[in-house]
Amino acid sequence: MTSRLAGRWQDAARATGLLRPDGTVASTIFAEMTNLAARTGALNLGQGFPDADGPEYIKAAAIAAISDGHNQYPPGTGILELRQAVARHQQRHYGLELDPDTEVLVTTGATEALAATILALAGPGDEVVTLEPFYDSHAACIALAGATHVTVPLVAGPTRFALDLTALDAVVTDRTRLIIVNTPHNPTGTVLTRAELEAIAAAARRTGAIVVTDEVYEHLTYDAQHVPIATLPGMAERTLTISSAGKTFSFTGWKIGWVHGPADLITAVRTVKQFLSYSSGAPFQPAIARALDDDAAPHELAASLAARRDLLCEGLQRAGFDVAVPQGTYFVVADGAPLGFADGMDLCRRLPELVGVAAIPVSAFCTPGSPTAEALASRVRFTFVKSEATLLDAVARLGRLREMV
Ligand SMILES: Cc1ncc(COP(=O)(O)O)c(C=O)c1O
Repeated sequence: MTSRLAGRWQDAARATGLLRPDGTVASTIFAEMTNLAARTGALNLGQGFPDADGPEYIKAAAIAAISDGHNQYPPGTGILELRQAVARHQQRHYGLELDPDTEVLVTTGATEALAATILALAGPGDEVVTLEPFYDSHAACIALAGATHVTVPLVAGPTRFALDLTALDAVVTDRTRLIIVNTPHNPTGTVLTRAELEAIAAAARRTGAIVVTDEVYEHLTYDAQHVPIATLPGMAERTLTISSAGKTFSFTGWKIGWVHGPADLITAVRTVKQFLSYSSGAPFQPAIARALDDDAAPHELAASLAARRDLLCEGLQRAGFDVAVPQGTYFVVADGAPLGFADGMDLCRRLPELVGVAAIPVSAFCTPGSPTAEALASRVRFTFVKSEATLLDAVARLGRLREMV
């Protein structure tokens, strides 16, 4: 008899390292570290959400939208105003020309765009390639779709994590249905170079794979340029580009995202998305439509984050960590090995007690036991999307770590 608990949820839990051998489910490392931080009074540099909201005028636009009656289901594709704003944004920043009626779909955050895209296009027998480390929802959705997850490592180099081009060529084959790209990349902070993106594009063209690119940190780059893979020759016709307003405008709880690409692929994604949430965020959609015409706010956020990145990176280096200074996102990966911590998970479980700071092990973003998980075992991720005061405090606390071990 089949267990009443049997189901695809177990595949999703297994793919993200949450299914214990006895069949019970662990909470995510994010929840575990947040609870540990709360229990010990540690500064939580684990979970990546800003401790300051985005611009007041965007909040006011959402409040006005509620007062003006934008409170019932918006259209399943998203309001036209927002789809047009996404098209203008992509034209202005990247020269991509989109038809807001057929080539743009509004979603409940990038998370729903990813889920609807993967469920729409991949299934049993298909391989889906991601970078490794990877954002956990990529792995979960591949498992929910019943597809096979294959990874290409990002390898720690002297200055940045670089894509393993030999592995890329080996894993992308005729079985590959989707190649999921994420740049700027969570957790490593790498911004893929044009040459790395060209290699992915060549692999997609060689095999006919569709590229899905998660670009939620597109505006949060420092001394590096974000190149959307859809702008490379021949790629717009085979790429679904996903982003959201959460990181760009510091409203992560509003969950306004979008996906754009060729009309036939957007129809496929919309068909699934309409049976997930159908639609959401009625008053937030007009507010984000307005925000998307504002290039100053994301620019200011990136400038302020660059300073906070430097503060945290320098503090981590002084504390004895090896640091890969990130070119994008709001995360930095630091290596605890020079301090004698070979296991990042162990370090993260002890760090709140030792010095009062919480972080996330990079192994949580890897397939359990994979060669990349092994190679990055001693690395941990800290966020710098916190106030300067919090970061200064964190750096002072981390500076005491050497004496504690
Ligand atoms: C790489 C990546 N993709 C997607 C998301 C989720 O985006 P959203 O909040 O718009 O669903 C995150 C959030 O942390 C992320 O880091």
